[in-house]
Amino acid sequence: MVQIPDEFVEEVRRRNDIVDVVSDYVQLRRSGRSFVGLCPFHNERTPSFSVSPERQLYHCFGCGAGGTVIRFVMDVEGLSFGETVAHLAERAGLALPEALRVQQVESPRRQSHDQMLTAHELATKLYSYILMNTAVGVQALTYLETRGVSRQTIHEFRLGFAPVDGTTMVRFLSRRGYGESFLVQSGIAVDVGGRVLDRFRDRIIIPIADAQGRVISFAGRTLKADVKPKYLNSPETAVFHKGHILFNFHQARRHIRKSHRATLFEGYMDVMSAWQAGVKDAVASMGTAFSTEHAMLLKRDGARVVVAYDGDEAGARAARRAIEIANEVNLAVAVVSFPDGQDPDDYVKSHGEQALRRRLSNELLSEVQFLLELERREANLQTTVGRTDFLRRALEIIGRRATPVEQETRLQDLATELHVSLEALKSELRSVSRHEASRVRKSERAFLPMDQSWKGLPPAAEVAGERLLLAMLTDDRSFQYLCHQGLDELATAEQTALLALIYNFRAEHPMASAESFLDMLEDPLLVGLAVRVLSAEIPASWEIPALDDYMRAIQLHRLEAIHARMLRDSILAQTDGRLEEVSTLRETIAKLQQEIAQLKTSSGKGKAGIGAKEAGLK
Ligand code: CTP
Ligand code: MN
Repeated sequence: MVQIPDEFVEEVRRRNDIVDVVSDYVQLRRSGRSFVGLCPFHNERTPSFSVSPERQLYHCFGCGAGGTVIRFVMDVEGLSFGETVAHLAERAGLALPEALRVQQVESPRRQSHDQMLTAHELATKLYSYILMNTAVGVQALTYLETRGVSRQTIHEFRLGFAPVDGTTMVRFLSRRGYGESFLVQSGIAVDVGGRVLDRFRDRIIIPIADAQGRVISFAGRTLKADVKPKYLNSPETAVFHKGHILFNFHQARRHIRKSHRATLFEGYMDVMSAWQAGVKDAVASMGTAFSTEHAMLLKRDGARVVVAYDGDEAGARAARRAIEIANEVNLAVAVVSFPDGQDPDDYVKSHGEQALRRRLSNELLSEVQFLLELERREANLQTTVGRTDFLRRALEIIGRRATPVEQETRLQDLATELHVSLEALKSELRSVSRHEASRVRKSERAFLPMDQSWKGLPPAAEVAGERLLLAMLTDDRSFQYLCHQGLDELATAEQTALLALIYNFRAEHPMASAESFLDMLEDPLLVGLAVRVLSAEIPASWEIPALDDYMRAIQLHRLEAIHARMLRDSILAQTDGRLEEVSTLRETIAKLQQEIAQLKTSSGKGKAGIGAKEAGLK
């Protein structure tokens, strides 16, 4: 990646007024000190999107989007950071710095990237021309027609046809100056014992595009039932990494952003038929497994994912894996299953477009429902052993994955289904959960999940954490002081994550502004937090005693959390009869209580130095 000088980025930001730029996309009206409008990143009727001319920041109270003018253009246009800086520089009439221009033009890697993109674009055009306008393409066109693919869909997905002769594309691109080894490198051609031939022969061509809609690879489907493989794909190249690419993401993205939902299919044809049926948030992970990178792509757009895989065994297994991946990155997930081993494309053919739309919106299964359904399919409910076994697995799924509210519903369903009392199920679930409890508590200590850390949080500590972050971000002296105090933990997991990123950022960009920091943030949760922090009133000067008070508030909160947990542990130990443990716990609890009392009396005095370490509280 090209390193853009911090000063240039700051200059670009200064020269592009955020109200000006946002107004190109959103109708804004003044409201007090800021401007408000309808958020372009989610669907809304009443404006919750606000732009502050003073702070040069935007923030949506509805969906949490926020940042500087650079982030806004990146997200609304789907550009990379570098592309956005170049775009805004141009908008403000700034010349790109010499270093950047030279690098851009002369870097051979960059040049070869650009060439690969251009070659793919040219190839897409030729394949499409052959399909639509030549005798060679007629058979393929008829095939697509029989499969119900409309002209408009062919056009929107830029489908094409690769003729059988095997040299058409190589000749076409060679004449335009592309060398044979380059064509092999880009995956368009293959070297067959020294002869360079077209990779795709006698296949319908499905172009695969990146998030900006640039074609970066192809899939070729054979027309014949007996030819293997059914799909031939481009290899991984410098511009194509399939673990990062979702088929149709570039067209689906704006719909995904509006509806906060993406529908994930297994196959190209499923995506195309769903799209044609009006399901515009359709994407697919192209034969390869759904990856954490894919999940992050969707999460970044604020989406939940609906997994709509084939209704066969393989589809169910793949859906189970997709659920795990989604869980890994905290992406909300639901599943739709299809009857009789059908895939969504078959389903449209047999039930119609409206039926597909209805199924995808009204027949969502929660991940718990789906996993229970899989267990049910495998279980033998005719025998007592089978039923008991099923029940155990079911309770494990419910105990581990369902929210309290969903637990209630699922247990009720199970009770009816298996003719057992709800009370019995509840007590079974409690014993299953007890079993799990020690495991869960351990992981809790390692990393408190974000949503949990928000629950029951004393606002004082949270406010203190935000003030400290603001001081770190906007005041150099405060930064030095807090750094020196060894501040490394704030009131929530998010605040602490942001703090760590600030340290990293300052180490790498000592002169850059808080705004530059904001633009660098990836995680939407952290962006939201940072924007909220930076939107607060900034004091004319930061006093050390005030900073100490904030640190104390956080320390107090931390000790109180530990205290509460130890109380819980000691009650558990008591009921289990682990008496030795009880007495050690009691001692520690007493010590903690003292420390908490001390902290409480020293707070508010604004006396420097009674930080965590001096009070011996670490
Ligand atoms: N796939 C692949 N290579 C293959 C077979 C499958 O890359 N040899 C990938 C493709 O992305 C395909 C997806 O796996 O779209 C699902 O495969 P499958 O269900 O067999 O194909 P369909 O999408 O149903 O295609 P069609 O309806 O044309 O048979
Ligand atoms: Mn199919």
